[in-house]
Amino acid sequence: MSSHYVPNARLRTLVFKTSGDASRHAALIVERLVRENNSAGRPTVLGLATGSTPVGLYRELIRLHKEEGLDLSGVITFNLDEYFPIPPDDPHSYHRWMHETFFNHVNIKKHNIHIPDGTLKKDDAEDYCQRYEMAIRKAGGIDIQVLGIGRTGHIGFNEPGSTRNSRTRLVTLDPVTRRDAAGDFFGEENVPQQAITMGVGTILEARKVVLMAFGEHKAPIVVKAVEQPQTEAISASFLQSHPDATVLLDEAAAGDLTVFRRPWEVTTVDWTPDRIRQAVVWLSLTVKKALLKLSDPDFRDHHLYDLLREHGPAETLGWEVFQDRAKTIQHEPAGKEPQTVLVFSPHPDDDVISMGGTIIRLVEQGHKVHVAYMTSGNIAVFDHDARRFADFVEAFNRIFGIDGKATAEVKERVQKFLDAKGPGQPDTDEVLKIKGLIRETEARAAALACGIPPERLEFMDLRFYRTGTIAKAPIHPEDINDIVKLFERLQPAQIYVAGELSDPHGTHRTCAEAIYEAVRRVRRKGQNFEVWLYRGAWEEWEPHQIEMAVPLSPETVERKKLAIFRHQSQKDKAMFPGGHDKREFWQRAEERNRATAIAYDALGLPEFYAVEAFVRWKDG
Ligand code: F6R
Repeated sequence: MSSHYVPNARLRTLVFKTSGDASRHAALIVERLVRENNSAGRPTVLGLATGSTPVGLYRELIRLHKEEGLDLSGVITFNLDEYFPIPPDDPHSYHRWMHETFFNHVNIKKHNIHIPDGTLKKDDAEDYCQRYEMAIRKAGGIDIQVLGIGRTGHIGFNEPGSTRNSRTRLVTLDPVTRRDAAGDFFGEENVPQQAITMGVGTILEARKVVLMAFGEHKAPIVVKAVEQPQTEAISASFLQSHPDATVLLDEAAAGDLTVFRRPWEVTTVDWTPDRIRQAVVWLSLTVKKALLKLSDPDFRDHHLYDLLREHGPAETLGWEVFQDRAKTIQHEPAGKEPQTVLVFSPHPDDDVISMGGTIIRLVEQGHKVHVAYMTSGNIAVFDHDARRFADFVEAFNRIFGIDGKATAEVKERVQKFLDAKGPGQPDTDEVLKIKGLIRETEARAAALACGIPPERLEFMDLRFYRTGTIAKAPIHPEDINDIVKLFERLQPAQIYVAGELSDPHGTHRTCAEAIYEAVRRVRRKGQNFEVWLYRGAWEEWEPHQIEMAVPLSPETVERKKLAIFRHQSQKDKAMFPGGHDKREFWQRAEERNRATAIAYDALGLPEFYAVEAFVRWKDG
């Protein structure tokens, strides 16, 4: 597991290539101490966290237990927090989550597991919290505290404003935290208002602290916690005063650290062509001067004298980067000869949201464009839509004299189920099928709006997605085989993949990894094609990263928006994960394509209305 320390950080910070590597490193820290204490006949006290971040750590500890004899019978655990009020068997309680994710698979003794009680009476909370702290002390204090970090900078549920000395207590959750949890609870209104959490002071008493953060969405808060002075506004920043705290990041979560954004400010830089491009583009956008207007003093005033000395003067650097960026502009993304192009869409709308304009262009230029929808996306359909379509089909069949009885029965079953459905309760297979069908028909309509006929669409319904819940299974070997077969059947000249960095356990990431594996397999058999990465619905490639920029006219952007509109069920997604952004998909798509065009314009490149951006996939 290769990793490197971040220079100039106020907290010891290690960056790993992937979240898997970082999780294995965290597991190693825990394993070492447990084995050492086991041989000395001492217990090990672990402070544990929930959420998406520690999943990989728990998986690895389970593996070590099952395959490498790691004995956890001497481990005592204290969880950081629990929602309040919440019964322990609630599908969203941290009690249930911890048991399902970890405790049920290892040999930690039941009586050694401590998780704050979400069922106590409010009046008893203070006493209860003191007893929780006492239990920690009685166990000898926490040896290793595992932490994630929320987008508010919280550790545990210590929201902004928590003091350095705060102790275990009942707290009110921040609106951002509640919004982030909305996806798990199927609506923000179902997320509890309060939680019981260990305090910052409690956490700081642990002998060792390991904070993990994965995914691009954590990058902005990580940089504040790690590089800025300690402040109550960001509880995690208090870890800076802990004698043995380590932050473990994947590359995506580390992306905003100065050492990556502006490495020349904190270390000696090896001026590779990529780094030169990053620095010069950054400088141009920062000083608001086109590439060809940059001057030597601009470089000197911004810590770039080394670059100037080695590769300058400014005129040369500006000209080289200008030429390089100009070459990214591509009006014919698949060339002049008609080709088969295969676009992978993790959910049924990522294709049009992220590269609808390019798809329209490719179709107009005579290429055979196929789209493979990798998952049904059924989780993201509202109940009311399933109800409406059951109603529609029943009325449709009645009008056209088709098999009325069976449809009426389905409609009744669906309505009955939805009437009684509790928040977060998984759907029946029947409802999931209807929801999947809604998205499939929307995808067909949207593809047609881009000029792709239905026979060029593949609905793969990959197995890893079919859990009926937000949590997904790992990729299935048959999923990869399905992709390989698709490559063999279609023989594409070019494929497009959603190349996400964020959301390490998310659908996009899993889809991308399955595709990469399939590409490696067919390449070994001699099949070859270009692999281009687009960014999913939430982010965009940055101007210095782009390797192919496809300009879009205002008319094409309008057509792209019309295609996005076809995904009617995906309107108003503010309550779903990532839904902190209240704007709708078509608005964000347009803004982001415009933003890239504006950045190109600011660099002094030709002025376009909008641009879709791509990067080439490089294996490893
Ligand atoms: C969980 C906890 C929280 C999470 C944080 C990050 O017990 O205390 O502080 O660690 O909200 O959550 P994820 O990992 O889901 O991004």
